[in-house]
Amino acid sequence: MADAQHRVKSGNGNGLVAILGAGSLGRLWGALLPMGTTAFIPRRHAPDEYEPDLTYRFQDGHGHYYPITVPSLDWSTQSPDTLIVTTKAGDTLGALETTLPNLKPTVPVVLFQNGMGSQQAVAERWPNRPIMAASTTEGANRPDSQTTVHAGQGETWIGALTHSASPLITNVVNQLEASGLVIHEEPDILTRLWGKLIINAGINPYTAILDCANGDILDAPLFRDTIRQLCLELADVMHHEGLSSRSPEDMESQIEAVARKTAKNTSSMCSDVRRGKPTEIDYINGYIVSRAGAHNLAVPVNQMLTEQVKLRTDTQQEPQPDTPGAT
Ligand SMILES: NC(=O)c1ccc[n+]([C@@H]2O[C@H](COP(=O)([O-])OP(=O)(O)OC[C@H]3O[C@@H](n4cnc5c(N)ncnc54)[C@H](OP(=O)(O)O)[C@@H]3O)[C@@H](O)[C@H]2O)c1
Repeated sequence: MADAQHRVKSGNGNGLVAILGAGSLGRLWGALLPMGTTAFIPRRHAPDEYEPDLTYRFQDGHGHYYPITVPSLDWSTQSPDTLIVTTKAGDTLGALETTLPNLKPTVPVVLFQNGMGSQQAVAERWPNRPIMAASTTEGANRPDSQTTVHAGQGETWIGALTHSASPLITNVVNQLEASGLVIHEEPDILTRLWGKLIINAGINPYTAILDCANGDILDAPLFRDTIRQLCLELADVMHHEGLSSRSPEDMESQIEAVARKTAKNTSSMCSDVRRGKPTEIDYINGYIVSRAGAHNLAVPVNQMLTEQVKLRTDTQQEPQPDTPGAT
């Protein structure tokens, strides 16, 4: 299991992992990968601006606290072996536009965004680079600006999005396994991402609209009256995308089971709405709406949920702390 001792012991020969996006998930990787093998890519305000190391308090999965210091990447002396991208979906393309010109074209880029659409946009923009997508059930949050909490222990699957990524997957998995987290190679990453998309589409917007924890959606009329139709829409879009999917009834049972299992968690979307931050709705239910449009299908529930979540971000006034859970 990854802990502070592990960080000190395993720092050699692992290659440098650069992390783009020093938020909850980026800081989780920064804390768990061996010391001396990670660096954050800072947002540059001016080319000669000094970027200090990033120091924060990390609470591991057992509730123990450790001080963590991760340096900022110095492009003039350091050359990353892997880039992991932990920005929100909507920020990813822009963040990579400024980062990738500095990165060797053979360096694997691993995208950790939830939902769908941002990964395809990156793979289409840089088809000759080794681009990978990750789907993770790890959960991290920042209850305050100085603290990062490993809130939910899960698993991570990594698969290739571009041709040149395929031969590099094993190396990347080995490199990231030095964190102590459970990581798998995923030959069918798109199906894996769709699996998570179904859960996110069936839980996150409801929590954001109802302003409640995951488990509280289950008895709400909004959820009860629309979840079956939502699952019918998901199955229809997946069918037209050429993907095999579970039956709408199975999807509904799975969504309800996850909502029950994570009943006390606050979803990232609910947390974003509470903090007045942009949500990832365009990459979750909004992605379903956009793919439905491409196939000339009507998806009224996904459309309604997307519009309702956007309405809440537009009108949100008073920000609150960040304590999302694992969905
Ligand atoms: N947290 C989790 O448990 C978890 C689990 C599974 C998947 N995910 C997915 O992982 C992604 C990141 O989630 P998160 O919770 O870590 O979000 P987050 O806490 O908001 O972190 C995103 C970070 O990216 C930074 N950023 C944005 N644009 C940047 C740029 N151009 N250059 C450098 N940094 C930039 C942000 O900086 P500012 O704050 O300054 O904007 C922020 O620190 C999301 O797609 C999420 O759905 C998260």
